[in-house]
Amino acid sequence: MFVYNAWYIAAWASEVERQPLHRTLLDEAIVLYRKRDGGAVALEDACPHRKLPLSMGTLKGDLIQCGYHGLEFDCTGQCVHIPGQREISQRAKVRSYPVVERWGLLWLWMGEAATADASDIIDIAHYEDPKWAINRGPAMPIDCDYRYMTDNLVDPSHVSYVHKSSLGNEATVGIPVITEEKGNAVIVSRWIKNAVVAPFFQPYMKFSGKADRLQHYEVRLPCSAVIKDVISPAGSGAPQGDIHPDSFLLDSYNFLTPVTADSCRYYWFQVRNFDPQDAAVSALLTEDFITAFNEDVLILEAVHRGIKNTRAELIHLQIDAGSARLRRLLDEMVRQEQTARKQQQ
Ligand code: FES
Ligand SMILES: [Fe+2]
Repeated sequence: MFVYNAWYIAAWASEVERQPLHRTLLDEAIVLYRKRDGGAVALEDACPHRKLPLSMGTLKGDLIQCGYHGLEFDCTGQCVHIPGQREISQRAKVRSYPVVERWGLLWLWMGEAATADASDIIDIAHYEDPKWAINRGPAMPIDCDYRYMTDNLVDPSHVSYVHKSSLGNEATVGIPVITEEKGNAVIVSRWIKNAVVAPFFQPYMKFSGKADRLQHYEVRLPCSAVIKDVISPAGSGAPQGDIHPDSFLLDSYNFLTPVTADSCRYYWFQVRNFDPQDAAVSALLTEDFITAFNEDVLILEAVHRGIKNTRAELIHLQIDAGSARLRRLLDEMVRQEQTARKQQQ
C-alpha cells in the first residue's frame, strides 16, 4: 500500500536540531539530527546490536552513539567505533536515507537511494514573492490510513457537510465537478457561481456581495495535494480566466506522510495573494485552518474505524470518481515498484 520511491516529509526543518529525534515513516523507524554544519541526517533508528533506537543515544560530533553499549555510527550509517573491539563487521551499519531541506521542511527519500532526485520535490509558486504571503500550522497526527486523507483532498463535495460553518455553505451543495487525470495526479474541480461567500473566507474578502468561487482539488500521488481557491466578484469573468484585482487567491499545500497502515502525519501551509505583510492575518488563517482541518480529522478517524470494522462492500457514488482514479493509479504505482524489486532480486 506504500509507494517507496517518493519524497516524504519527515519533519518541519525547525523541529530537527542537535537532539536526536525519532519519527516513523512508512512503518520504518528513523532518527533525525543535524550535523555540526547544520546539515540534516536521517538514519534507521535501530542499533544493529540489540535494536535499541539510536534516538535514545547521544551525538558525538557528527556521530551518533548508541545508548546501550556505545557503538558509534557516522552519517552514512556505518559503525565506526565499537568500545573494546578492533574489528568492525560490514554488517555493523544502519540504513541512511537521502534528505533534502526545502520549503521549510525535511524531505526523505524512502526508496532506493540511487533513484532519489531532488528536482522531483514539489514546486511552490509565489513562495518568495513579496506580494504573496505564507501561513503555516503544526503537523497533525491522524489515526487513519493516509489514503482516506488523499480521498478527502479530491473531494470538494464534503465541504458542505464537514465544514458547513467554515469552508462550505448552502451554495456549495450539489454542484457538479470535473474530474481529470494528469500523469500521477488527479484533479477534481468546479466553479460555484453567483454564490454567498462561505463563512471561512468572509473576513478576508476585499469586495462585498456575491462571488464566483473555484475549488480546484489536486492530489499528486502518492501524498501531496494542492487545493486552489479563487473567489472573485460574481460575473467579473474569473471562470473565463479574467482575475479581478480584488480576487481572493489561496493555494493550500497539503502533504501526508504515512506513519503506519493505520496512521499518518499531515503537514500543510497556505500561500495567498492578500495582506502579504500582515502577520495578524497569517495567524488568523492558521487558526482558522486548524479548526477546519480538525473537522476533517474527526471524520476521517471515524471513517477509518468504520471501514476497519466492516466486512460489507462499500457503495460508490458519482462523487467518488476522483478517489477511484487515485486508488487505481496508486495500486499501479505499488505494483510497478514491487515488480521492479522482484526483478532485482
Ligand atoms: S544495542 Fe546498541 S550498542 Fe548494544
Ligand atoms: Fe476538509
